[in-house]
Amino acid sequence: MSLAGSSLVSIDDLSNGEIEALFSVADEMSDSLNDQSGVCQGKIMASLFFEPSTRTRLSFEAAMLRLGGRIISAVEVGATSLAKGESLADMARVVGSYADIIVIRHPWEGAARVVADYAGVPVINAGDGGHEHPTQALCDLYTLKKERRNIEGLKIALFGDLRYGRAVHSLTYALARFGAVILFPPSPGLEMPEHVLRKLTTEYKGKLIRLEAVNQKVKKGFFPLDAIYVTPSSPHQLTMLPDIPDIGVQIGLEIETLKKHGIDTWLHYDLSEGDYQIKLKKAGVDTLYVMRLQKERHAPAEEGQELKKDYPVVDKKLLKGKEFKKTIVMHPLPRVDELAYELDADPRSMYFKQAARGVPVRMALMALLLGTREIAISKEADSSVQKVDYPIYDRDSGVRCSNSNCVSNQETETRYIRPEFKIVSLSPLTLRCLYCEHEVHPQYIASSEWHQGMLATKKYHSADSHWIRKIKPENLIIFDSKSEAGAHGFKPSSYITAHRKGR
Ligand code: CP
Repeated sequence: MSLAGSSLVSIDDLSNGEIEALFSVADEMSDSLNDQSGVCQGKIMASLFFEPSTRTRLSFEAAMLRLGGRIISAVEVGATSLAKGESLADMARVVGSYADIIVIRHPWEGAARVVADYAGVPVINAGDGGHEHPTQALCDLYTLKKERRNIEGLKIALFGDLRYGRAVHSLTYALARFGAVILFPPSPGLEMPEHVLRKLTTEYKGKLIRLEAVNQKVKKGFFPLDAIYVTPSSPHQLTMLPDIPDIGVQIGLEIETLKKHGIDTWLHYDLSEGDYQIKLKKAGVDTLYVMRLQKERHAPAEEGQELKKDYPVVDKKLLKGKEFKKTIVMHPLPRVDELAYELDADPRSMYFKQAARGVPVRMALMALLLGTREIAISKEADSSVQKVDYPIYDRDSGVRCSNSNCVSNQETETRYIRPEFKIVSLSPLTLRCLYCEHEVHPQYIASSEWHQGMLATKKYHSADSHWIRKIKPENLIIFDSKSEAGAHGFKPSSYITAHRKGR
């Protein structure tokens, strides 16, 4: 199997087998960092960092230098022709003709995908806004494998800003695919985005047990959780997962309500003292993955300030709990206030090792994408992501991604990017942007079938009406608003008219 010529935009661009094979190459290279200078001799890496970076940029550059290649770089939009209004597509075509591989960090979500579509050479996403940071996830997984050997069944708590933390989005997908149990402690206002959670259950087929709606009476010493994710590869019923009852959350909901949430099998045998308890104390957390507050992505400054006040801090005091006795502490860095310096000498702290491992991991990745190293993966050992074949919606009916930071909404890019979506759900109608993966829930639909030559019957319907299941996906037209439907020559259906009159 060859990865030569491929790009890495999302962690899902690599199968589990490919990741394991990449780690073997990284192991080999880290054992002899000084002997790799022939691997990419004559190759040029373009290092395009349009957001601040220490680790990612310098470890990529160090990696290419150790492989014997050379580097061209641009580190500010203002120093490139992007500042004159050039599109990412044009820049990608040009840089792709100068370099053999491009590494790009950009504040727009979906920017790396656009560059990969147009560059004609392998492109590596070094972070695109709050979307993904797949090579950080590779460094994280590599560290987990080094420190814990097996990821399957590991209980990993994700701590901090899960909403804007791109590294933790890529990591979450990878953890789900490798069979980890993911623990979500409460992070008010900074919860994991719904589109990430949806992927966990639809693409990776695991089960997400939501506990935030449950009346949790958190006792002193208990570790509260908002949700637990278990993958299908790890047994996901309590009866089959003996240490789960020891995970620490107190739940005070009636069992009937829990049944309605589809989680009865999780609790049916653990009814101690009339409570439905899952305790964390004994079983412990294997890894605490800490994120800083990504304040550069918070729109109004006050919101960031407000969130900063209650931001969790991982320090010696927290790690004194029994549940953290054997916990390793990870952080993609840079840190601000959320991780105390007093932990640096603690043997459980892994964050500097994580950063150091960025060099061999990125060396292995570039050698594979450039085809200067090949890897062998047997089909049996591989487990690719099961791609769900969602229908694509790409009609020009005015539906736009709702994320103002999405590349598809930027003035310079709308000249050539046509919004494209996956239809991930019909009820409620949910479209996932192909670039940034944010979801939109349009209100109105119509069919292209009925109006061909019959303008009088051009009617639009509510997206939550029965018509959503009647219209074939290839005929579906979706509108954001009534005015958009009207602008395309559609009139409201009798139901919509009656509904409006009734109001
Ligand atoms: N972890 C990480 O992406 O660090 P930098 O922002 O310094 O590259």
